[in-house]
Amino acid sequence: MTAEGRFTGKTLMVTGAAGNIGFATARRFAEEGANVALVDINEEGLRDAVSKIRGGNGVATFHVCDATDARAVDRVVDEIVSRSGQIDFLFNNAGYQGLFCPMHEYPADDFRTVIDINVNGVFHFLQAVAAHMVTTGGGAIVNTASMAGVQGPPNMAAYAASKFAVIGLTQTASKDLAPYNIRVNAISPAFMGPGFMWDRQVKLQAEVRSQYFSADPKTAAEQMIKAVPMRRLGGIAEIPGTVAFLMSEDASYITGVNIPIAGGIL
Ligand SMILES: NC(=O)c1ccc[n+]([C@@H]2O[C@H](COP(=O)([O-])OP(=O)(O)OC[C@H]3O[C@@H](n4cnc5c(N)ncnc54)[C@H](O)[C@@H]3O)[C@@H](O)[C@H]2O)c1
Repeated sequence: MTAEGRFTGKTLMVTGAAGNIGFATARRFAEEGANVALVDINEEGLRDAVSKIRGGNGVATFHVCDATDARAVDRVVDEIVSRSGQIDFLFNNAGYQGLFCPMHEYPADDFRTVIDINVNGVFHFLQAVAAHMVTTGGGAIVNTASMAGVQGPPNMAAYAASKFAVIGLTQTASKDLAPYNIRVNAISPAFMGPGFMWDRQVKLQAEVRSQYFSADPKTAAEQMIKAVPMRRLGGIAEIPGTVAFLMSEDASYITGVNIPIAGGIL
């Protein structure tokens, strides 16, 4: 089988598909033969993403959905199943970074918003797709956590809490779903860009003026990059291959694992 055909006949559902990592991963799976169902709250971004994938001869559909709305998530899963027959893979990737400020000033309403998107949202998609996969004989799920889910960074209380939760959800889901031939893993990117989240993180960490990062965004970016072993910014294009591996037959006995892309923070 050629590398291009690895996922032929399979359907991948991607959340956060209008964003950098979700789109890059959807495109990669489409290039390898999968039908891709792109889900996001951002309709304009979704339309653009789908038209780019179709322009490369990929098969893609788009579905506007708010991850925090459990009923909307159920509806979207039903819609994709009725169009594609079944969902083989879920890349559960939508996320929000939250505000940047120290713990004692972190606004409770933003804390709730981050948890609602990054934890409740991930749970809603995980549960709805798993319930479907239980009826079809199995599948594979990859949740996007973060290095902030392995080691809490400064000024990101809600994001760190939410991404630690994603890793916990991944571990429990992998055990609960193993009897149904459903594998559940996580990836934890470190600093990946250029892209919306990297650019925003550098700007906002600098603006906090904490003892950890320079108030000059260029210097703050250098400080962050020095904190990863390979001493460079990870590329968005360096993520889809890891997701594809975790979904593929090469990972047929891998479940409950979190892969820290970039190898950790020093
Ligand atoms: N870029 C990085 O450096 C980095 C590092 C670690 C983890 N991550 C994680 O990777 C994932 C993707 O990040 P990205 O860099 O592509 O960011 P991005 O901002 O480009 O994409 C995130 C997407 O999630 C969507 N989204 C937000 N709230 C939603 C909701 N309620 N319902 C549906 N969709 C919603 C956004 O519209 C956006 O398209 C996120 O979970 C993020 O936390 C990113």
